Amino acid sequence: MSPDESAAESAPATVDGLTLEEKASLTSGAGTWRTTAVRDVVPAVRLGDGPHGIRRQTKGSGDALGLDDSVPATCFPPAVALGSSWDPGLARRVGAAIAREASALGVDVVLGPGINIKRSPLCGRNFEYFSEDPHLTGVMGAAVVTGIQSLGIGACVKHFAVNNQETDRMRVSADVDERTLREIYLAAFEHIVREAGPYAVMSSYNKINGVYASENHWLLTEVLRGEWGFDGLVVSDWGAVNDRVGALAAGLELEMPPTRTDQEIVDAVRAGRLDESTVTRAAGRLHTLTRRVAAAERFDDWDVGVHHELAREAARGSAVLLKNERAVLPLDPAAQRIAVVGESARSPRYQGHGSSQIVPTRLDSPWDALSAAGIATFAAGYRLDGAPDEPLKRQAAEAAAACDVAVVFLGLPDEAESEGFDRTSIDLPGVQVEVLRAVARACPRVVVVLSNGGVVSVADWEADADAILEAWLPGQAGGSAIADLLLGVCSPSGRLTETIPNRLADVPSHLHFPGADGHVVYGEGRYVGYRYHDTLGTDVAYPFGHGLTYTRFEYSDLAVRETGTNEWAVECAVANAGERAAAEVVQLYVAFDEEPPSRPRHELRGFAKVELEPGAATRVAFAVSARDIAWWSAARGGWRIDPGGFAVEVGASSRDIRLRAELTTAGDGHVDVLGRMSTLGEWLDHPVGGRVLRTRLPKLSAVTGMAERSPALFELARSIPLAKFGTFDIGLTPEVVDDLMAAAATGQGS
Ligand code: BGC
Repeated sequence: MSPDESAAESAPATVDGLTLEEKASLTSGAGTWRTTAVRDVVPAVRLGDGPHGIRRQTKGSGDALGLDDSVPATCFPPAVALGSSWDPGLARRVGAAIAREASALGVDVVLGPGINIKRSPLCGRNFEYFSEDPHLTGVMGAAVVTGIQSLGIGACVKHFAVNNQETDRMRVSADVDERTLREIYLAAFEHIVREAGPYAVMSSYNKINGVYASENHWLLTEVLRGEWGFDGLVVSDWGAVNDRVGALAAGLELEMPPTRTDQEIVDAVRAGRLDESTVTRAAGRLHTLTRRVAAAERFDDWDVGVHHELAREAARGSAVLLKNERAVLPLDPAAQRIAVVGESARSPRYQGHGSSQIVPTRLDSPWDALSAAGIATFAAGYRLDGAPDEPLKRQAAEAAAACDVAVVFLGLPDEAESEGFDRTSIDLPGVQVEVLRAVARACPRVVVVLSNGGVVSVADWEADADAILEAWLPGQAGGSAIADLLLGVCSPSGRLTETIPNRLADVPSHLHFPGADGHVVYGEGRYVGYRYHDTLGTDVAYPFGHGLTYTRFEYSDLAVRETGTNEWAVECAVANAGERAAAEVVQLYVAFDEEPPSRPRHELRGFAKVELEPGAATRVAFAVSARDIAWWSAARGGWRIDPGGFAVEVGASSRDIRLRAELTTAGDGHVDVLGRMSTLGEWLDHPVGGRVLRTRLPKLSAVTGMAERSPALFELARSIPLAKFGTFDIGLTPEVVDDLMAAAATGQGS
């Protein structure tokens, strides 16, 4: 048994008295939302969507698509918004509120958070995911898990792994090199498993490098359990299992919902195709889950008003002020004539389609909230079905012409983005853009408020807007939250968790999305989002981390202290230099300026959201760890730190770095093992190998002597593996190479 597998043995064996048939029955559900119970030994638990509120279906066996109705629950801002708050404390509180509603609705495990990386803005499910960045995703995801589990309700982190598109999601193979997997697509899962201990992980539908996630032993057993120490339950995405026995053997413990009989498992054990201990372990893990959730605090209800207010606070903290020229925001209804334009101000889009769709307890519309604040002019401007409507457009322009400011609500229509399919464009509907243009011609000041789950392009119409507030899909209290921000009741504090590109074609995955012929090749590798744009210096509409507010912040006094081997404490001061209270999101990047680059130019490794009164200042502290400067070496099968220089950068976005300190690391002390195919350069640079070579190979000077005479030739020679020098007549016969290797291995260089 490998060490990985023995670590995976750590599940408590709590099913000793059960028959094989009973244990097998625990490895699949008893319906769409329940696990199987066995006598009075193992109770059933109820699972429910997730991620941003509870979808507790009311009738029948239910479904995984959000078709059937469900009981009302608070629709908190989906992850696209909550992530943009960059506020783990807020995410924790939202998680706890979701858990309380789960408890009241009889749900034991919440199917969320969704933490897949936004590889392309086209992914139809981006509204359920946090970011293009794994650090931010990991921290926000861990906060939600911690919040949910603070009440003893289970969180089920999904979709493990590399489920970054909806196109062909049930079959496609995501073909990704291991370094990219480790650094980008698995990193957030790893962080959450290690830091927050989720009770469950949901395996995704897709294949990874040809093997279904649900049947992927490397993913589910070696990495998840063996390396990260996951001690919870692996559950399939709904219908993701193709080979029940293979999935169990790979490390998937629970198939949801059941698709075949459990007899298949029993037969496989009896036929010697499956070890009974595998079934025992899986059943034990299910039993562990039931015990964990049985210890949960139970609630009969929740305060609908209090949770609605929390949803409003979360939506307020999530909207991103992209642009605010001439300080057009905040608005002042007492001093300005203001027109509200856009059907979506009256009929807001606040959540996405599919399994996450919630029946909200209440719904605030921006128009209700703005009219309650004294704004009297409204014009629908366009129809939500996208059909052109000239009279509506004309009325909007006329209404705007009579006002000082027009606030135009734009966004993606309901059918534009959903679980189950991807977008093909990032443009707003043309009819909406036309209304904006007509309004901009008629009114001196224009504010655009956006509602969308996936990023939309601003390139075509940005010049027509003095201010742009990106509200995302803000959940059920989004309407009042947007009004709070527009009116300056509070200052915007969201920041972009994904780059807004100028054009779809600028997106690094563009040539490789969504793939064809059953495969999607992650050809852009680790260069996802800002990692690509900032390495190449591509122009973007708005960079990762960007977001304005109604004040300005000053950064100063960067101090870096070494606290251990490859560990540093970083601190700086941040001051609110404007006239309004607001929050700043201070971002820490680790930067490697290499040319040509061998890694992204810089990567987010820390952030802190600080709320400051006008004139107030605070110190912000970060820790940089060895892992923060490491890269995954597939050759070594581990993280690696090379000796050399790097920098820590502190700033307000990936393109607005305010402070920077240069540091060096001695590396991780690793010395490569030399082999026949190691190059002459690698031998010469090696602490032992160089010595061995110089002392044992007299004719080496014929080559090293070229270093001065002909540097180019010497460089060429350095690139040649030792085993290939046989024809060069410097004595490097295969036998000599073997001797050199032996000497280098034992360190006997002299
Ligand atoms: C989705 C999951 C969801 C499950 C249950 C699947 O189609 O991918 O995210 O939790 O259905 O509704």
